[in-house]
Amino acid sequence: MQKTLLVAGLTLLLSTIGYIQNQQPVDEVSMVFKQFKISYSKSYAYVEEAYRRAIFEQNFAKILAHNADPTQTYTVGVNQFTDLTQDEFASIYLTYTPPEGWQPSDEEVVQEGVQPNDSVDWRSQVRVKDQGTCGSCWAFSAIGAVEAFLKVTKGENHNLSEQQLVDCDKASSGCNGGYPDKALKYIQANGSTTESSYPYAAKNQACKTATGTTKISGVQNIAKTGLQAAIKQYPISVCVDASNWSGYKQGIFSNCNKNINHAVMAVGYDASGNWIIKNSWATSWGQNGFMFLQAGDTCGVTQLAVRAI
Ligand SMILES: *[C@@H]1O[C@H](CO)[C@@H](O)[C@H](O)[C@H]1NC(C)=O
Ligand SMILES: *[C@@H]1O[C@H](CO)[C@@H](O)[C@H](O)[C@H]1NC(C)=O
Ligand SMILES: *[C@@H]1O[C@H](CO)[C@@H](O)[C@H](O)[C@H]1NC(C)=O
Ligand SMILES: *[C@@H]1O[C@H](CO)[C@@H](O)[C@H](O)[C@H]1NC(C)=O
Repeated sequence: MQKTLLVAGLTLLLSTIGYIQNQQPVDEVSMVFKQFKISYSKSYAYVEEAYRRAIFEQNFAKILAHNADPTQTYTVGVNQFTDLTQDEFASIYLTYTPPEGWQPSDEEVVQEGVQPNDSVDWRSQVRVKDQGTCGSCWAFSAIGAVEAFLKVTKGENHNLSEQQLVDCDKASSGCNGGYPDKALKYIQANGSTTESSYPYAAKNQACKTATGTTKISGVQNIAKTGLQAAIKQYPISVCVDASNWSGYKQGIFSNCNKNINHAVMAVGYDASGNWIIKNSWATSWGQNGFMFLQAGDTCGVTQLAVRAI
């Protein structure tokens, strides 16, 4: 009898503790962090978890503050980068460096040869890929430019290999950064092979197959004033200052300088001349992988544009 009472009392006590624990309001950031780990398949070593959580909390506070500010023209959000410090983000993803001696020009860039209120949007003709934890933006920018050129001008669907450029194009440095224009010249000279025959590994490897059957006939630099007219024809490889891009969610972005450090694609512009950008940070980033950049030379977008011909 006494024993039964004891067990009953203990059970009541334990379930009361459980009730109290379950009823405790879980703070918002804990829930968001838990969801973040599930969404992006993050698993940390036990000692790392507290460190990543602290960074996540700081970034999450900045996200809330930014989105509460009515003067902002764009919103930010939680994505795969929210557990990284700005320095970590920059060292992995902002790997593009302009050619030696190159300087951005500061003069105002007026677009020539386009009708007022003109617009073009190639988003439905291109696919957003994911460069993963590798500074291969230059390869994604070049491959994207070739795929879009063949799709829009010839109606051909190609899914080409970024990894081939990462491993084989010795004018660039694989996951440590490189040059879209040189990658396009590589494809002009050596051809590009398919994604399925040379799959993406997001790391530097020995070159397996240096050539491919998909070629382009040339590579063309686009004048700063001619970017809109060029995009009207088909998407272009461009380089930008992406220093503040990590949390971008949607809206028109202009929070940048011209310290060019990332390669992407320009895939359209709206009736106000804002650029539509395709990135290589998966569809979880930005507007399904895309971004709007304010009209003009925002983030240096007109400075190092190049296309396949
Ligand atoms: C051009 O677009 C702007 C808004 O972007 C609008 O206010 C203006 O009326 C348009 N002009 C013409 C000629 O369509
Ligand atoms: C084409 O490939 C060869 C062999 O890998 C290489 O030496 C050459 O530099 C490549 N061409 C270009 C234009 O990158
Ligand atoms: C490209 O091909 C690879 C390998 O076949 C595939 O995993 C990937 O989904 C394809 N990408 C696109 C954007 O179609
Ligand atoms: C990034 O954004 C901050 C304000 O949020 C701004 O002060 C800074 O200049 C921006 N950095 C670059 C490199 O543009």
